[in-house]
Amino acid sequence: METIVTDSPQMAAQFLRAGQTVIFPTETVYGLGANALDATAVLDIYTAKNRPADNPLIVHIYNPNQITQLGRNVPDYAWTLVEKFWPGPLTLLVYKQPIVPDTTTAGSDKVCLRWPSLPLTQEFLRECGLPVAAPSANLSGRPSPTRWQDCLEDMEGRVAAILTGPDATFGLESTILDCTGTFPVLMRPGSITLEQLAQVVPAIQLPSQATALILPGTKYRHYSPRAQVIILTANQLPLDFSGPFAYIGLTDPAQFFSQPPTHQLIVTDVTEYGSELFAFFRECDRRNLPAIYAEPVPPQGVGRALMNRLSKAASQI
Ligand code: TXA
Ligand code: MG
Repeated sequence: METIVTDSPQMAAQFLRAGQTVIFPTETVYGLGANALDATAVLDIYTAKNRPADNPLIVHIYNPNQITQLGRNVPDYAWTLVEKFWPGPLTLLVYKQPIVPDTTTAGSDKVCLRWPSLPLTQEFLRECGLPVAAPSANLSGRPSPTRWQDCLEDMEGRVAAILTGPDATFGLESTILDCTGTFPVLMRPGSITLEQLAQVVPAIQLPSQATALILPGTKYRHYSPRAQVIILTANQLPLDFSGPFAYIGLTDPAQFFSQPPTHQLIVTDVTEYGSELFAFFRECDRRNLPAIYAEPVPPQGVGRALMNRLSKAASQI
């Protein structure tokens, strides 16, 4: 399939309305979209990404009226969160209406809803005039794409169109909250932080060990470059070895290594660390570096999301 690259949200929306797959920018990462209400179109997303059929998709909306069109039994606290944080990088899991096909939710009776804040995304979604199912626009298992060029690298020939836009501001995927119970449960940390959410819904819960095992992202290897990712620990230091390696962190790598890294990125704060992480992973793969050492940060605020993605990238399963 020929992949059209365009900066026109109107043109990109035409492809989507015709039942085809379209990659589009958001404030978190790029998404690979199709009409969420068309099971055949949604199936093409799974094929394009090599995504396992049991891993459900987030449905992107552009108008809060769509919440009740697609979801049901939406609790009061979810409406409060919508009021406070939408549009933005927060995804809410609610019970689904029958109009949402099982293919979109991978057979679940619950659906993830998200209203992105990037103006270009909103324009694209309005032009589509439909709810758009979209996972991150990477090949399954690869780091999420934060630049349209990353999408082209993974997906050229596999999707009908790519809508080009700015590099993602946040660079980590949206925060996901399960809103199907009495209290909201944090399913995936993101740049809307637990601390921010707790100010609005003090009863917010972290998943228990047992449920964590069945939560998204815990089952499949995620966010991984080909290089081995190693999170630095205090007792490893200082490291002395030959051969190429990369480093990302807040601290000067001279503190950790006896020779300079082949490739490095020193970030100034945790927010920049989050927005640059996946792009850095991809750059290391382009340079064929076998190992990436990453400095850990305290798991608070955006640091919680960052450490979640780093741990997943570092795990060998
Ligand atoms: O920032 C984001 O959320 C980006 C942009 C494109 O919006 N999207 C994204 O999608 O990260 P994806 O598919 O890469 O991650 C969505 C996660 C998956 O781990 C999936 O298992 C989970 O959300 N998920 C989606 N629908 C679900 C459902 N009905 N029940 C449980 N988990 C669900
Ligand atoms: Mg993903």
